[in-house]
Amino acid sequence: MSIKVLGISTSPRQNSNSDLLLRQALAGAESSGAETEYIRLGDLKIAPCIECNSCYKQGTCIVEDDYQMLSSKMLEADRLILATPIFFMTFCAQAKTLIDRCQCLWAHKYVLKQPLITTSRDRRAMVIAVGGTKSKKMFDSISLTAKYFIDVLEMNYAANLFVNNIDAPGRIKQHPSALNEAFRLGRELVSTDTPPHEKPINVELT
Ligand SMILES: Cc1cc2nc3c(=O)[nH]c(=O)nc-3n(C[C@H](O)[C@H](O)[C@H](O)COP(=O)(O)O)c2cc1C
Repeated sequence: MSIKVLGISTSPRQNSNSDLLLRQALAGAESSGAETEYIRLGDLKIAPCIECNSCYKQGTCIVEDDYQMLSSKMLEADRLILATPIFFMTFCAQAKTLIDRCQCLWAHKYVLKQPLITTSRDRRAMVIAVGGTKSKKMFDSISLTAKYFIDVLEMNYAANLFVNNIDAPGRIKQHPSALNEAFRLGRELVSTDTPPHEKPINVELT
């Protein structure tokens, strides 16, 4: 059975830099025989968490929208690649909205103490983030939030691809190595030759 990779693109704009990197990473995964699925968050309707805490009792979210479908896909996938632009030093609102809705998975796991994934599976995740300025500090907040998000999903945090100083739409195409690195990391993400790393591989490009 081939490895299933889910790529979630969260940038709201066309010709998005993080989206272009995500597509390359998925192409890399496919080149190694993985089955890939690409989802653009902007095509779905996912409302913000309303902090009703209903999930503390049921382990599921009472707000019904496209979250339920996407959550099932995230739990089914063997690999997840989440791509975000940097907005105000962290994930864009679209990505953070999805992350916050996963509070019901956190409740399922840590309040109700029930396993999310019942069969033992090698699940790994990678994060792609692109910022417009020369700062690199913004990647600290991405790493921190991603660590807890990926833990809730019961995945191993395998890799980051962070690129700064890329602002205009599509500008990433002119970067000397970013698209190739995305392809390589996508291929590596689906390789089962090496066991998951303790810490994510960090590729930071300028
Ligand atoms: C609302 C908003 C906030 C932003 N905040 C930052 C920021 O804090 N740091 C930064 O380096 N770039 C910031 N940017 C620039 C984007 O990160 C940059 O344009 C990036 O290439 C967008 O990625 P995308 O093309 O995948 O959407 C911001 C852009 C917008 C629209």
